[in-house]
Amino acid sequence: METLGSRTLDSIKSDFPIFRNRPYLAYLDAAATSQIPSMVLESMVDFEVNFRANVHRGLYPEAELATQAYESARTQVAKFIEAEPSTVSFTSGSTSSLQMLAELLANRLSPGDNILVSSMEHHSALLPFRRIAAERGAMLTTIPHDADYRLDLPTFKLMLNSRVKIVVITAASNVLGTVNPITEIVAEAHKHGAIVIVDAAQYVAHLPLSVKEWGADAVVFSAHKMYGPFGVGVLYLQSSLGQSLTPTALGGGMMTEVTSSITTFAEAPWKFESGTPNIAGVIGLAAAIHYLTALGWPNIVQREEELARLALVGLLSLNDIKIIGPLTMHDRLGVISFTVPGLHPHDLATLLGEQNVAIRAGHHCAMPLTSSIVASGVARASLGLYTTEEDIARLIQGIKAARAKLS
Ligand code: ALA
Repeated sequence: METLGSRTLDSIKSDFPIFRNRPYLAYLDAAATSQIPSMVLESMVDFEVNFRANVHRGLYPEAELATQAYESARTQVAKFIEAEPSTVSFTSGSTSSLQMLAELLANRLSPGDNILVSSMEHHSALLPFRRIAAERGAMLTTIPHDADYRLDLPTFKLMLNSRVKIVVITAASNVLGTVNPITEIVAEAHKHGAIVIVDAAQYVAHLPLSVKEWGADAVVFSAHKMYGPFGVGVLYLQSSLGQSLTPTALGGGMMTEVTSSITTFAEAPWKFESGTPNIAGVIGLAAAIHYLTALGWPNIVQREEELARLALVGLLSLNDIKIIGPLTMHDRLGVISFTVPGLHPHDLATLLGEQNVAIRAGHHCAMPLTSSIVASGVARASLGLYTTEEDIARLIQGIKAARAKLS
């Protein structure tokens, strides 16, 4: 029987209502979004039906309860990433966290400065920093990857100098599955005084995240890729950096006093949360963290590694298939991109979809990377807690059937 720790895979799957309603679905698109367990949905419904109110405003019991639940979620997120609650701001997702970071840091750039971004960055991590570089007369330079699809660390070290002000690096690539050595990257960048921003969107549901261990200045991630709801994300800002930044998104809830001419901002993290936040979403994120934590990291890591290895071996057993990413499970996640000669990835994904095998195909919002590898993009299978051996077998069988039909 397939298990994850003391739980059977069948019981884990039954936590996710979509598999009760669509038992035939082999969902292999966790990197785009994970499925959501009932207990997360229930936590959000509980807020909506029992104590729906805005936070940090009302003085009546429901508003107090809403504020308590919201701030308790912040504490739980902080604990989950080994941070202090004052360093955790809620946003609408990784994209908005990265956009906000670029705006917050723009005035630290002078003409001739440099931003380093890895070749593996998602457009959300690349484009805001490309824009502020252009606006400030700074450069943006790409850290390459090597032939094994791992970050080229020796080159990265050579690229560092005192003009490098910001380094943007994904903790795990949404295309390659590569897990980057963040602690080492941060330590090297800090020797030159650069601020390091880590995109942990693809990492946070699959490996334990410790901002303390990484030492990064900023870390972002989204709830919907970690069994939580859409529309909520996290911006971690190292304490003194967060205190030193002047908020760029202005509005209600982020200041302590406004006179006819003077605005006094609240402390971090509240100064980064203007307007009414996604309260139900934040409560759902805390529930998702509870769900993940209860399953236990060693169990999750071991299970996902076994499955990813199975998928790699299965794909490699098919003639001519090319894996776009590391071929071993060392520093790698179950995000597995591949190309099938003679089959456009979109055709493959459509044919697999007809067999109820859900994968993603195309450029995965990382076009500089994917188009440098293959113009048509790549097919990608990505695994989650509920993925089974049978799902992997159906993927392999489905590729064989698609090939037979179209090749
Ligand atoms: N960034 C998400 C993905 O890789 C949407 O699919």
